[in-house]
Amino acid sequence: MLTQPQFFGRRKGRRIRKAKTVLLEEFLPSIKLDTNAPLKFGIKPQKICLEIGFGDGIHLAELALRHPENAYIGAEVFQNGVANLLSLITGVKQGADITDHIHLSENRSDNIRIYDNDIRLLFPLLPDSSLDEVFLLFPDPWPKKRHAERRFVNPDNIKELARILKKGGMLHIATDHPIYKVWTLRQMHQNQNFLWTAKCSNDWRYEPDDWVKTKYQLKALKEGRRPVFFEYKRI
Ligand SMILES: C[S@@+](CC[C@H](N)C(=O)[O-])C[C@H]1O[C@@H](n2cnc3c(N)ncnc32)[C@H](O)[C@@H]1O
Repeated sequence: MLTQPQFFGRRKGRRIRKAKTVLLEEFLPSIKLDTNAPLKFGIKPQKICLEIGFGDGIHLAELALRHPENAYIGAEVFQNGVANLLSLITGVKQGADITDHIHLSENRSDNIRIYDNDIRLLFPLLPDSSLDEVFLLFPDPWPKKRHAERRFVNPDNIKELARILKKGGMLHIATDHPIYKVWTLRQMHQNQNFLWTAKCSNDWRYEPDDWVKTKYQLKALKEGRRPVFFEYKRI
């Protein structure tokens, strides 16, 4: 039996308004990842990607729209964030009076599955070499030394990411926190299964191609912090 890992972030924030509550109650079940069945999407995906801690879902919603041929698993504990993603992909806005059946916006393929819980509980259910890409964008930095063990980038999670990524698959980690930048490089360096692909500083100072800015990235830029983008290849 799995022991429940301790989660230190927020599961709930502001009161979730009516429309988003309806999205969570009525629409989420239709795209929620079924942990008792093999992974299935409404398409036959070319690639399967995972975003860990998608926050308000802007990045996930946009990538899934740009790439209808790929499938996306999004994991997020924060309910308000999950509700926001649902709003983005259905077009149901706050304050909407929902009377009809809710469905994905018409221009979207059925390529998203949501795991609305701690990704560490899903890891054991994901088969070896099952994913093509993983995004870990602006993870909570837990900058205090005494909280370092809460940081998502740690030996256990890196080991799991190495297991579930296919050889040649990519792990994208972005952060704007100086402590987390150094921490990530050190932690990743200690795992022999990943190769940092940067050839020069421009490769980690600037966004990779086909990038979508996340909410935390925009916040960092607004507050004058420079994010970095580490790209690791599973070897
Ligand atoms: C700092 S926010 C960044 C959100 C988003 N990636 C962005 O860049 O805007 C980190 C998010 O990761 C989520 N998170 C942290 N640990 C998680 C875990 N173990 N499983 C799923 N989500 C997690 C938090 O709930 C939070 O929403």
